[in-house]
Amino acid sequence: MKKKILMVCLGNICRSPMAELILRERAEKAGLPWEVRSAGTNRYHKGGPADERAIRTCRKFGLDLSSHVARRFTPEDFDRYDVIYSMAVDVTEEIRAFARSPEQMKKVRNFMDHVRVGASVPDPWYDGEEEFEECFRIVEEVCDAIVDETKKNR
Ligand code: 4NP
Repeated sequence: MKKKILMVCLGNICRSPMAELILRERAEKAGLPWEVRSAGTNRYHKGGPADERAIRTCRKFGLDLSSHVARRFTPEDFDRYDVIYSMAVDVTEEIRAFARSPEQMKKVRNFMDHVRVGASVPDPWYDGEEEFEECFRIVEEVCDAIVDETKKNR
């Protein structure tokens, strides 16, 4: 069965959409049958496109983020997804507060824990192009670690 993974950040316009694209691409290359989507915990950008700096950064690395539509995380996502990766510790706390059972709680993982336990992907929203590129590289590193770990345990 397809493993369903949800990437979550605050706005669903910078970090989690980039993580969605990168993990999907890495999983495809590794032959892993994963469905990867993303959402945000706040409603401010719901229905809108990804941040244009994120779109430009992804384009620079050969990935197309132009058709992304931001959506808000809902508690029903616990039923739809097998793994819920949070991009940052504040978001992890927020999502965990929605969990209604130990099984749901177990689905929530802090994304950065794969390379540095307790760390967060820095929020590039208030920064410039350079920080978006830095964010892309961090997310790439973690996605590679996730795929490598899975391949090792296969
Ligand atoms: P993201 O970045 O969580 O990586 O999509 C942000 C986007 C918008 C806001 C915060 C972070 N905001 O406060 O609207």
